[in-house]
Amino acid sequence: MMTQSTPNSRSNDGSVSARPAPLIDLAAARQRITSLEEELAQTKHELAEARRQLREADKLKSEFIATVSHELRTPLNSIIGFAKLLLKQKIGPLNSIQQTDISVIYDSAQHLLSLVNDILDLSKIEAGKIRLDPTWVSVEEIIVGVMASTIILIEGKPIELRDEIEPHLPKLFVDRGRIRQVVINILSNAAKFTDAGSITMRIGKISKNEQEFICFSVKDTGIGIAPEDMDKVFEAFRQIDSSVARRAEGTGLGMPISYRLISLHGGELWVESQVGRGSTFSFTIPLQPPASLLQRNS
Ligand SMILES: Nc1ncnc2c1ncn2[C@@H]1O[C@H](COP(=O)(O)OP(=O)(O)OP(=O)(O)O)[C@@H](O)[C@H]1O
Ligand SMILES: [Mg+2]
Repeated sequence: MMTQSTPNSRSNDGSVSARPAPLIDLAAARQRITSLEEELAQTKHELAEARRQLREADKLKSEFIATVSHELRTPLNSIIGFAKLLLKQKIGPLNSIQQTDISVIYDSAQHLLSLVNDILDLSKIEAGKIRLDPTWVSVEEIIVGVMASTIILIEGKPIELRDEIEPHLPKLFVDRGRIRQVVINILSNAAKFTDAGSITMRIGKISKNEQEFICFSVKDTGIGIAPEDMDKVFEAFRQIDSSVARRAEGTGLGMPISYRLISLHGGELWVESQVGRGSTFSFTIPLQPPASLLQRNS
C-alpha cells in the first residue's frame, strides 16, 4: 500500500502534529504555465514572420525568373528569325552543309524558346501575374486542329486516334489559347508515352455537386503511371523515372502548368492510370465561370 509522508512539526509543549504537504505547488505551476504560454506566443509570432518572409522570397524568386525568361525571349526570337531568313535563301544561296547547320540552330533555338516560355508561364502563375484573356468560345474553337497535330506526333506508331465529342455543347468562358495549350499538352504526352493501341479524346457535359461542367478527357493505352508516382506528374521539373520516360524528351513542366491553368479557370485536372495498361487525363471547366475569371475580363 502507498503511504503519503507528511512533515512533522514540534510545538512548544513538545507535542508533535502532522499536516499534509501540498501535492502541487500551485503558485509555481501557474507561473510555469504563464511563462510557457508566453514562450508559445513568441514562437507562434516568429513562425508567422518566417512564413511571411518565405512567401515574400518565393514571390521574388518567381518574379526574378519571370523577368529573366522574358528577357531571354527577345534574343531567342531574333536567332530564330535570322535562321529562318537564311534557310529561305533570300539573302544568298547556301550549300547543303550550311543548310543542315542552320537548321540545327533553328531547331535548337525553337526548343529553347518553348522551354523559356514554359518557365515564364509557371513563374508568372506562381507570382500571381499570369494574364488570362477569357472570352465565350465553343469547344470546336478550342480544339480545332489539335487532332491533326497529334497525328504527326504518332507517325510510324500503330496507334488509332479517336475523338468522341458530344454534339451541341454550350460555349465556355475561357482563355482559348490557354485551354488549347492544356489539351495539346495532354495529347502530346499521350502520344509520347504510348507505343501502340489507341488514344481517345472525349468531350461531354457532366454534373457534379449540382454544378455543370464540360469534361475533356484523353485516354491512352500507353505505359501508365504507378500509384506512388501519381503526385510527381503535377510537380514542376519532375519526370517519372521509367525507361520510356527517360527516353522521352521533355522538361516536366507541361502538366504542372496545365494543372494550374485549369484551377485558374475554376476546374480540376486529374489522372487515372494503371501501369502497363494506360492512363486517362481529364479536366473540367465549369459552365458558370468563377467570379475571379469574370472580374479579369471587366
Ligand atoms: N499519358 C501519360 N502516360 C504515362 N506517363 C505520363 C503521361 N503523361 C505524363 N506522364 C508522366 O508525367 C510526367 C510529367 O508530365 P509533363 O507533361 O509535365 O512533363 P514532360 O512531358 O516530361 O515534359 P514537358 O511537358 O515539359 O515537355 C512525364 O514525364 C511522365 O513521366
Ligand atoms: Mg508533357
